[in-house]
This record gives sequence, C-alpha cells and structure tokens, in this order.
Amino acid sequence: MAVSTSSPLDTAALRADFAFLEEQVDGKPLAYLDSASSTQKPRQVLDRMRAFYEHEYANVHRGVYRLAERATEGYEGARRTVAAFINAPSEREVIFTRSATESLNLVAYAWGLQNLGPGDTVVITELEHHANFVPWQFIASKTGASFRHIPIDDAGELRLEALDDLAREGSIKVVATGLVSNSLGTINPVEQLATWAHEQGAIMVVDAAQAAPHRTIDVQALGCDFLALSSHKLCGPSGVGALWGRRELLEAMDPFNLGGEMIRSVGLDRTTFNELPYKFEAGTPAIAEAVGFGAAIDYISEIGLPAIERHEHELTVYAMGLLGELEWVRLFGPPVERRAGIVSFDVAGVHPHDVAQILDWDGIAVRAGHHCTQPLMARLGVAATTRASFYLYSVPEEIDRLVAGLHKVKKNLG
Ligand SMILES: Cc1ncc(COP(=O)(O)O)c(C=O)c1O
Repeated sequence: MAVSTSSPLDTAALRADFAFLEEQVDGKPLAYLDSASSTQKPRQVLDRMRAFYEHEYANVHRGVYRLAERATEGYEGARRTVAAFINAPSEREVIFTRSATESLNLVAYAWGLQNLGPGDTVVITELEHHANFVPWQFIASKTGASFRHIPIDDAGELRLEALDDLAREGSIKVVATGLVSNSLGTINPVEQLATWAHEQGAIMVVDAAQAAPHRTIDVQALGCDFLALSSHKLCGPSGVGALWGRRELLEAMDPFNLGGEMIRSVGLDRTTFNELPYKFEAGTPAIAEAVGFGAAIDYISEIGLPAIERHEHELTVYAMGLLGELEWVRLFGPPVERRAGIVSFDVAGVHPHDVAQILDWDGIAVRAGHHCTQPLMARLGVAATTRASFYLYSVPEEIDRLVAGLHKVKKNLG
C-alpha cells in the first residue's frame, strides 16, 4: 500500500521520545491506535516527574522550609502552565482535579445544586461522553430540573435547528457539550453554542478532554464559562486534570470537597473557606502528577498544537480513504474536514470485540466498545464500534497495518 501523507511533524524523532512505542506484542511491533483513550508518555514528562520526586518533593502550601517552597513552586508553576495553555484570564481560575470527569462533577454538583430547580433545563448533546452526561442527568433529577439533549444527524453532527424548540421548552440554565466527540471525532460548534447559551441566560460548560491534546484551546475565544481537561490524554500522567471556570462563578459556588487546605478558618461552630483556587482543592493534591501535567503541556506546546492537528488530519484523511474503499466496513461520523483524529467503524458481521482481539494478535491496539457514549450508540443503532485514534507519534504505516489486519478479520470471521 502506498503511504502518502505530508505531515508537518518529524515523527521518527518524536517517536524516539516514547519508550513504550518500542514494545513488541508476540514479537510484532506495537501499533498503538488508542490515544483517544489515553496517550503514551514521553521521556521528558517521566524525567521531570522523577526529578521532582528525587529533588523537590514535599507537601505543598504547608511547610516554611525551603524544600516545601520548591515543591509549591513546582505545583503552582504547573498551574500557570495550564492557565497559559488555555488562555485563562487568571491562574486562580484553574483548579487541579483528579480528571476531566472530576472537573465536570465539580461543576454539576457545586454549581448545579446551588442554581438548578424545577422549571430549569439542562441541555447536553446526544454524543456526549458519560462524564459530561451522567453528572448533569443526576443533578437535574436531584433538583427537579429538566434534562434535554441536542440531537445529532446521521453523520454524527449536532442538529442546531433543534435549538429553537429547546429554547421554547423551558428556562435553559446549563448547556454542556464536548468540543470533540471521543467516539466519532465530531468537532462541535462550541463558540456558536456558547453564544446561544448566553442568549438563554445559561452557562456554557465545555468538555475539552478530547480537544485540548490536539488543537489550540482559548477559553476566552470559545466564550465558555467552564472548561474541563485531562492530563493523561495529552502525554501527561493520569490522576490529574483541571477545571477552568470564570472567577465570579467559582467565587459564588460552594466547595465541592471539604477538609484540609480548602479552609480559611475552622471553628466548632463555623468554617470559612479559602480563596480561589484552593477552595476547590481539598486535601493533598496529586503534586508530582500536576508537575508532570505541566511538563506534558510544555512538550506538546513545543511541538506546536497547529502542527499536531495537521499531522492528525493527514492521518485521518489517509485512514478514511483506505477504510472507505472496503465495502464491508461502515464508517461512522462526519466528513474528514469536520472531525479530529478519530475513526470509528463497524466490520460487517463481526463484533467489535472480536475485531479488536484479532488486531491485537498482530500488535495493533484499537478500542472496541461503547466508548462511554451509550446514548450515541443507541442513536447509531449499534451496541459498540471499533475505534482507531491517532496522536503526534502515530504514523501511516500503522494505518496500513490496521487495514491489513481488517482484511484478516474479514477472512477469518466476516
Ligand atoms: C470526551 C471525553 N470527556 C471526558 C473524558 C473523561 O476524562 P478523564 O479520563 O480525565 O476522566 C474522556 C475520556 O475518555 C473523554 O473522551
């Protein structure tokens, strides 16, 4: 098969940063096509975390000794890095959490319980990841608010003509949507939705877990009120994520977790809370992970988000071109111009788990399942899909191996 992409990245050099990509599966080189689930980690991030643990580690914000100050500087430096990465007006609006999931739960609980009630409506999308779906569904049911969704068309894109009907139904207080769909790669028109949300008097919550690793994020340009992101999807460690929120909203919210660090003073009768962002960071945070998160942002920023995005686009064009030629493969999702580096498909007559298993025999790692988007699967009329997803270290040869593997699947099971 001819390999024809014109990537702006020197992938051979980049791949040398990732020891994991040298792994073999039954003597075959690994083709890691599951970066939408979690990315591999470059040496630069691992080295930074190791150096931090070996030379700078102590608990943060507590000690007056110099090592504690150094640890605090590492942790707060990572916060500044996250803030700059998403163009946050202030680093005090950046809260470290355990994950994008926790960031979204924080907003749903802390903002939702205080601000939602009967007669209010929460709007999510039909292709939402469960992390930005289930917390809102739960908090809506707790508060008596209605829970509605923006439907998608057959290509997996939002049907914006449904917005008028939603607006007529009730008082919309929250619009929550992902920027990039983890199942289909659909890029949602978040700026447009943010404008619409504000016209309704609603807040706009953006799940950028699947977007921030691959394209430049600017919370001010998006016009959103909250934005969630995750470290492990952008070459950083797991166990840490971030929430950005507009200061006046965060300041008006009750805390989410309670305990040490998030207080100003505690008395037998009454407790007062710390200033931002500490009000939302109870207990000892994931310190070295936050430092690794910052190092990962430095790493991908140095490569350049626009170049990463173009590289993935080239790979997606290539993959969709090859897979589109197989009449026994059904591709899901929008045209390549309006999708990120994610390709979900179905092999006629073969369950996605069997597809993934047979590909694994050849060292090809793809994801099979509902991808935490069960309402979307129901809309597509399938229980699961097989998903290949790309990142800065992905190469066309891996897509060739995927296609060859699918021919094998077809021959054995199709
Ligand atoms: C779109 C989207 N949102 C949220 C999440 C959850 O992120 P985390 O693993 O950081 O909780 C994921 C992870 O799969 C995702 O793809």
